[in-house]
Amino acid sequence: MANVTFTSPKMSRDLTVYAVAGDTQTLLAVAQAHKVPLDFECQNGECGSCIVKVDVLSGKRPVGIALTEKEKTVLRYAGKITPEQIAAAETDDVPPPFRLACQFIVRHEDILVTF
Ligand code: FES
Repeated sequence: MANVTFTSPKMSRDLTVYAVAGDTQTLLAVAQAHKVPLDFECQNGECGSCIVKVDVLSGKRPVGIALTEKEKTVLRYAGKITPEQIAAAETDDVPPPFRLACQFIVRHEDILVTF
């Protein structure tokens, strides 16, 4: 129920795939299913190798999602999230632009994933 477009210098062209409604797949799982060359190591929200930028393309407010403590810690350590963005996620359900693909659950919204 969502189009997920992957873009990267590692790919010869952008790839848009359809994520099925009701799936609770991670973004990393979607990428792997479509042979998108997204880096990963731990697959458990600990190493930070799967950091991606996620832009919501619908023009609507992004679907709010609770960041896990692990994801917050890894993004903070990588310099990919500010204290203000953490506060916005916690108090206003505003997702930050950078996420861990192995922790991000694909929702019913079209997104652009840059890595
Ligand atoms: Fe290690 Fe996602 S693969 S944090």
